Amino acid sequence: MAIRTSFTELFGVPHPLVLAPMGGASGGALAAAVSEAGGLGLVGGGYGDPGWLERELDTVADATDKPWGAGVITWAASEDAVRLILSYRPAAVFLSFGDPAPYAVLVKETGVRLICQVQDVAGARQAAAAGADVIVAQGTEAGGHGSRRATLPLVPAVVDTVAPVPVLAAGGITDGRGVAAALMLGAQGAVLGTRFCATPESLYPDWAKKRLVAGSGDETSRTRVFDAARDFGWPAPYTGRALRNAFVDAWAGREDELRASAQARERFALGHQAGDPDVGLVWAGEGTDLITAVEPAGELVAQIAAEAEELLRTAARQLDH
Ligand SMILES: Cc1cc2nc3c(=O)[nH]c(=O)nc-3n(C[C@H](O)[C@H](O)[C@H](O)COP(=O)(O)O)c2cc1C
Repeated sequence: MAIRTSFTELFGVPHPLVLAPMGGASGGALAAAVSEAGGLGLVGGGYGDPGWLERELDTVADATDKPWGAGVITWAASEDAVRLILSYRPAAVFLSFGDPAPYAVLVKETGVRLICQVQDVAGARQAAAAGADVIVAQGTEAGGHGSRRATLPLVPAVVDTVAPVPVLAAGGITDGRGVAAALMLGAQGAVLGTRFCATPESLYPDWAKKRLVAGSGDETSRTRVFDAARDFGWPAPYTGRALRNAFVDAWAGREDELRASAQARERFALGHQAGDPDVGLVWAGEGTDLITAVEPAGELVAQIAAEAEELLRTAARQLDH
């Protein structure tokens, strides 16, 4: 038996599970592995580097005939990056972090589905007005960039606001329990990021995968330190959830000073490149506690879907007949 929702129907996929389009983690191999296993794999086009996108889109397109998609960071995206993705005829384009309107028409006129990730109810209204086919309600528990609202109250609020547009839940969802809970909140599926970083197919370096396996949600925090260290101009209200380390502790509250210091930024770049855990950046969500091993993405999709199905069956038996 499989879980059928309006999301699985829309994309013709067996499981209501989506791989988040994570810059630096979701390359073509990971997206293909998730799609092959019955989820929807999304390539993380991040800031829209065309060389990277071409390589990874070639990889996913060659590796699977199942539906897949790709995402870019809206405020940093360009029409060229979106057109490049569309030229591969994906099942979906995923836009997050900013008003999707400038690219929505472009995506929709090609007949490709538009998935918009939002961080609050106002953002959900904006995405619905832009014509999003699916809206992802992303809670602050999420790894990587996000904002302030928590998944548990945000998801049903977005569901109510944008109905009948299908909503997916994101942020802190790591296993079948989280997926089942998301469905109970009215979501039609779940977007998982951090869990898929700890897979052989993810582009995370091995030292970062090890830190995820050893780390816990307690050790994560939302910070602007890594964006300052990389001199990225993320607009308010976005911060990034990552594993805290000595570098974050040293620079928290002094982000402008860090951005202005070429020497400090160079120290970060070298430490990160070398895999120094006291310096390097590991985006990680609050669900990190539940990651205890690096496991193949396809196996994770199967396990997580089976666990969610079993929980829903068990929950139904709890009712007094
Ligand atoms: C390593 C990493 C990179 C991410 N990069 C992006 C990105 O480039 N674009 C995007 O829309 N979301 C990005 N996200 C956020 C995800 O879309 C998603 O909301 C999040 O991973 C869900 O929460 P979880 O990590 O707790 O599963 C990233 C998340 C992580 C962990």
